[in-house]
Amino acid sequence: MKNEVVPPLKWDFSNMSAEQLGTSDGIDEATRSHALQLLEETRKDFEEDRNKKSLPFLDLPYQSTEKIKALAASIRGRFDNFVLLGIGGSALGPIALHQALHSPCNNMLSQDQRKGPRMFFIDNVDPSEVAPLLKLLDPVRTAVNVITKSGETLETMALFLLFKEWITNHVGSRAGKNHFIATTDPGKGTLREIAQKEGYATLDIPEAIGGRYSVLTSVGLFPAAVSGIDIDALLKGAADLDKTFQNLPAAENGAIWGAYLHYWSYTRRNKNVLVTMPYASGLTGMAQWFGQLWAESLGKERDLSGRKISCGQTPVVAVGATDQHSQLQLYMEGPMDKTIQFISVETLKEDLSLPSIESAGEITSLDGHSLGGLLQIEQRAIETALTEAGRPNCRITLPSLNAHAIGALFYFFEVQTAYAGRFYQVNPFDQPGVETGKKIIKKLLQEKCL
Ligand code: PA5
Repeated sequence: MKNEVVPPLKWDFSNMSAEQLGTSDGIDEATRSHALQLLEETRKDFEEDRNKKSLPFLDLPYQSTEKIKALAASIRGRFDNFVLLGIGGSALGPIALHQALHSPCNNMLSQDQRKGPRMFFIDNVDPSEVAPLLKLLDPVRTAVNVITKSGETLETMALFLLFKEWITNHVGSRAGKNHFIATTDPGKGTLREIAQKEGYATLDIPEAIGGRYSVLTSVGLFPAAVSGIDIDALLKGAADLDKTFQNLPAAENGAIWGAYLHYWSYTRRNKNVLVTMPYASGLTGMAQWFGQLWAESLGKERDLSGRKISCGQTPVVAVGATDQHSQLQLYMEGPMDKTIQFISVETLKEDLSLPSIESAGEITSLDGHSLGGLLQIEQRAIETALTEAGRPNCRITLPSLNAHAIGALFYFFEVQTAYAGRFYQVNPFDQPGVETGKKIIKKLLQEKCL
């Protein structure tokens, strides 16, 4: 009893069963029982690969955070503003973390109320987003965290060049070096070379961890620690889920069973779209991060044997309750090509009781409820409506939006995606399609074709 780990989150895939949906779009008991052997075999291979250290993202929850916390403390003491420059896997995780665990008004709070500097995330090369920031911020009081695993990504390096010039022009190159933190590959890449030459503080992204699996490395942990998030609680949430998964048979393990169900729904029931619909505005960034993870990991032209399969579900982000009034019509009555994945939160960080009003017509049904209660009832209602309409859906539930649960949620999705890669028989860790685009951009830039 003493060593029992309380699962940091819950999952429920029952609304993907034939029994609940009342149609063959859900998995039936015979197919489920038949799949169990495959699930256990896949799990055995997976565990063997983990033991051989070929799935290093699985062990990230157990890393030491001392260096990250020390550097974060020194940045918090010296700067009022923190700007993160990165793209794809080098930005979506930190953004998701920040949105989930800080108030949307964080930057508007006083310095005493905030737990760290004001945080700004730039993950695009749109000058209309960058220029106002360069005009607004005081360079003397601004730290810049450049994140790129390869150290070569043109968008990130273009932003870096602009911020380097801006800092240097205002504080000089000698003092300016103290404003930069480079998070990159430990041994190679242009950013690593520049950081060494200029004397920047550096943080490593472990060599074997690719962008979209890097949120629990210094990529996500350092900006989180700077902003005052408890990164040890974040990693503990992931570790607790890891231990929970290890104690569960494959059929009850949300990552393995969930991965198989999504794979089955796509390959056997043409569920080409996976909609992630959190019922918490703060989880919008999480749904976008998941979108990258699912799309880039499973969207593959060829399987491991080289056979052309052009597979992968299209991830879509919807936010409850907002998108009930836009996309939901399509999910309820449009093509039967979707699975809806809800993320719900049991106890919201804040809640507001709704004031009573007399003679209020239809809205008297709000009487006695809170705003958070309304959000939760809406999630339940939409889940029921979709199920009754024979539309497959599933739910992941967090006890609350805290670092422990968010760490677990990142881990849940990463493990699930890696398992899905096994079922599809594709490599969930490469991205040849993205690399092709990068090469063409470089070529066009060299030809100076604009
Ligand atoms: O997941 C991935 O590997 C990509 O999305 C990368 O994160 C993205 O292309 C940015 O690469 P880098 O971190 O090398 O700048």
